[in-house]
Amino acid sequence: MTSSSPNIIAIDGPAASGKSTLGRSLAQTLGYIFFDTGVMYRAVTYLALQFDMDLRDEAVITKLAQDSKLDVRPATKEDGRANDIMAGDKDITWELRQGNVDANVSIVAAHAGVRTALSAQQRKIGLRGKIVMVGRDIGTVVLPEADIKVYLDASAEERAKRRYNEVIARGETADYEKILEKIIERDHIDSTRAVAPLKPAEDAVILDSDKMSVEEVLAHVLELCK
Ligand code: CDP
Repeated sequence: MTSSSPNIIAIDGPAASGKSTLGRSLAQTLGYIFFDTGVMYRAVTYLALQFDMDLRDEAVITKLAQDSKLDVRPATKEDGRANDIMAGDKDITWELRQGNVDANVSIVAAHAGVRTALSAQQRKIGLRGKIVMVGRDIGTVVLPEADIKVYLDASAEERAKRRYNEVIARGETADYEKILEKIIERDHIDSTRAVAPLKPAEDAVILDSDKMSVEEVLAHVLELCK
């Protein structure tokens, strides 16, 4: 890429809007690092559930977020993962996709203390550059100086359908109506929280993936990168 290429690309949007798929292929095409910040909120949620902590206790969960030895490393297995997500020396990559993590992550992510701890780490990583960072608040809070900001949206029904197919593809059972209900609930918590709510940055390009295929979205964003 030339020196005018974007150094930091931020992709935000609601649950299952296709951010990770877009982010991964974009990073691969550009030879950039891909970083899905949702895994950090998921990891704290997973650990809190493991330790049977009260998820609504901000002080306790913030301390957990500050003390957890979380690491995002290059993938060592070819099982569909983008990275290895480590808590200490334990690989928790797939544990983060469990239904109880999905159902509770927005409660944990709404705590201001948790966000301060995690977004500071994300910002540090992002500022190294040549990175595609995916989340809810990357363009608005974590890296407002990002060169390109994309807000990827899709209807709740389409997103629930995609999440349903992902779960089925993993060989697990799924209930579409329940998934839809949870997605709507998570969107609501994410977009109404006091700190860093889910919303497009003022200078974000908003794309609706209901009407565009994965390839079309990727082509559109690559065009923006030129
Ligand atoms: O894959 P999906 O879009 O369903 O979720 P995710 O990106 O893994 O994020 C899980 C949850 O973490 C979200 O619903 C948010 O509550 C929270 N999150 C956040 O608050 N800020 C971010 N930058 C990333 C995720």
